[in-house]
Amino acid sequence: MDTLLLDGGRPLSGVVRISGAKNASLPILIATVVAPGEHRLRNVPELVDTSSMLSLLGRIGCASLLGETMRVDTSRVAFCEAPYDLVRKMRASVLALGPLLARCGEAHVSLPGGCAIGSRPIDQHLKGLEALGCRFELDGGYVHGRVDRLRGAEFAFDVVTVTGTENVLMAAVLADGTTVLDNAAAEPEVEDLARFLVGCGARIEGAGTSRIVVHGVPSLKASPVAHAVLPDRIEAGTYLVAGVISRGNIRCEDVRPADLAPVIEVLRAVGAEVEVGPDWVSAGADGRVRAVDIETAPHPGFPTDMQAQLMALLSLAKGTSRVTETIFENRFMHAAELVRLGAQIHIDGRAATIIGQPTLSGATVMATDLRASASLVLAGLAAEGRTEILRLYHLDRGYERLVEKLSAVGAAVERGQEGRPRFAAPAAVAG
Ligand code: EPZ
Repeated sequence: MDTLLLDGGRPLSGVVRISGAKNASLPILIATVVAPGEHRLRNVPELVDTSSMLSLLGRIGCASLLGETMRVDTSRVAFCEAPYDLVRKMRASVLALGPLLARCGEAHVSLPGGCAIGSRPIDQHLKGLEALGCRFELDGGYVHGRVDRLRGAEFAFDVVTVTGTENVLMAAVLADGTTVLDNAAAEPEVEDLARFLVGCGARIEGAGTSRIVVHGVPSLKASPVAHAVLPDRIEAGTYLVAGVISRGNIRCEDVRPADLAPVIEVLRAVGAEVEVGPDWVSAGADGRVRAVDIETAPHPGFPTDMQAQLMALLSLAKGTSRVTETIFENRFMHAAELVRLGAQIHIDGRAATIIGQPTLSGATVMATDLRASASLVLAGLAAEGRTEILRLYHLDRGYERLVEKLSAVGAAVERGQEGRPRFAAPAAVAG
């Protein structure tokens, strides 16, 4: 199994070009099902998750062609099922519900089950789709959905859910009448999905705010214009933290600075030097940062997907910080691994207290989920000595060309193999 080997303590400096957003690419790829035709998509990141979503499209009967401009042909849909073997690998497959119900009037989607960071229920997805006239049965670990005719409705989510908002939005675009979604997710990725759907003929107002209004239309079709997926604000935030934690300076290019506002605010609060351009943001430091207290929240609050990365930075801050995770019930799996690197972190339910240390020291650690593994990479970049991160597949789900991008700014990083001996015997002994 692949591992990542890092020799830490080197300031990283230079430019990182940010890829397209994973969490916009995934809904947009499956949204092509709602609009028959040949879609062209640019800036789709080459990730394990986007490959999984292309596999799902293949299972539905849609052809896709990789390239600088990705082509997805949804002229015909042969099946309306998202099978367990795909959904268990990528829970975002649950996003097939809305598009299949809108396109085929039925959908059979495996329940995603929980994951490392929480139970991840989909009750809000189902409640929202039921408001549009869908009916569901749960059987054999699958959600079986049917709808005769989607009809517009007023619906308020009980909790802010990104993929829940996206699932209901992808059905509402073809409903009879108008749908109003309140307490909707305002993440930039939701806004990008709406932009894609509008390009296919949908009528959507308010995407990117907590109130989205959809005027249903009889049909949609693939846009003649290629859609460019928006830049990944979480990838960018991760590299900005890398510039600060390594006491260098990294400039992320091809970004939308407005999407990074909550991250920029926190980096400035810890005393990092942050500069913002029209399509770039740079961040660096020449010493230890200050402790801060942060609480994750739905956009435009501090993103939960940056919590683990910030915890790595705060592990080296001057002072004691408090991090409160309000979105997921179990998103501190990285804390125990950071402690193996010398961090001092105490967890109490959804709150973590981090007592900043002057240094961390390299060790072998284990990734548990995508952003936890990013946190360990950041800590390894700052730790003295060598850090080996096991279960690298987590990272490959969400960070395109990570080794290449980190090496280009001066990191000593390479892929390794788990269990490969690291300390050869002295030649004399080896004989
Ligand atoms: C999306 O997950 C992202 N994934 C996650 O990114 C991100 O962490 C999360 O939003 C929050 O921003 C994709 O977009 C593919 P939620 P999602 O539904 O939609 C509860 C990453 O690292 N909830 O917004 O699954 C849920 O339990 C990934 O890139 C319900 O109770 O998250 C959680 O506590 C990790 N019922 C909260 O809402 C529901 O029906 C927010 O979850 C749905 C959600």
